[in-house]
Amino acid sequence: MRKLSEHSFEDGTRSLTVRISEVKKEDYGLYVWPSSILLAEYIWQQRARFAGRKVLELGAGTALPGIVAAKVGADVVLTDHADRSEVFENMKASCEINNVDCRIQGLTWGEWDVETCSLLDAGVDFVLGADVIYQNTEFDDLFATVSYLLKGRPGSVFITTYEKRSGHRSVEYLMAKWGLHCTTIIDVSDFEQTEKISSLPSSIQLIEIAPELILGFVGQRRRSCPSSHERRALLTRKKPSFLVVR
Ligand SMILES: C[S@@+](CC[C@H](N)C(=O)[O-])C[C@H]1O[C@@H](n2cnc3c(N)ncnc32)[C@H](O)[C@@H]1O
Repeated sequence: MRKLSEHSFEDGTRSLTVRISEVKKEDYGLYVWPSSILLAEYIWQQRARFAGRKVLELGAGTALPGIVAAKVGADVVLTDHADRSEVFENMKASCEINNVDCRIQGLTWGEWDVETCSLLDAGVDFVLGADVIYQNTEFDDLFATVSYLLKGRPGSVFITTYEKRSGHRSVEYLMAKWGLHCTTIIDVSDFEQTEKISSLPSSIQLIEIAPELILGFVGQRRRSCPSSHERRALLTRKKPSFLVVR
């Protein structure tokens, strides 16, 4: 059964209400997870950072953070697993309801088809992911994609919220493996304790992740798809050589 949930954001001077289409069905990506409420709140509070910037949401599901980013002026691409047509239909409905013009595209983590490569070539400033760190069999593919996206544009960051059920240690390990590092960690308790924030599980954490600064990287941009050698390296879980900038 489809329903609309309402999400309000405000500060002293401005307010925003976003309506999200949800399907009450036990399936990931068709209802709003608490992590996406925290990420959407963060984007609202930091909206000056996002206005006019390119944003890509991974595993967007119902796409609350991406839609808030579009509402505050970002140019947004919403993505999810390429096989999840029901998720795409649902996020399209939410974009229409909120009158935002987001591009919607399949992007399966760790896979490099022509469409994904065209996205990577365009470059993004912010990669978003709410509750995408939850299944350890997918961690490497997710971080391979994140790492590739971040290496495409100097200064870009991955902002993700996740429930610490997966354990921060595995995230630290993955960041080290993929040449990334954490620049910011924010707990639910660090946010102003409004009714909305207090209703979220305290185990949710928001982290910002950036590529390791390697001498010589600044100013260098990668603008083409991974070669077959590079794709193989990504999929065989080896650190691909193009991630190390000489
Ligand atoms: C727990 S849900 C979170 C959905 C949404 N971000 C939220 O917080 O409400 C995980 C999302 O990741 C997507 N996903 C899972 N595995 C994926 C993969 N290998 N590639 C791309 N998306 C994937 C699912 O389809 C789902 O939308």
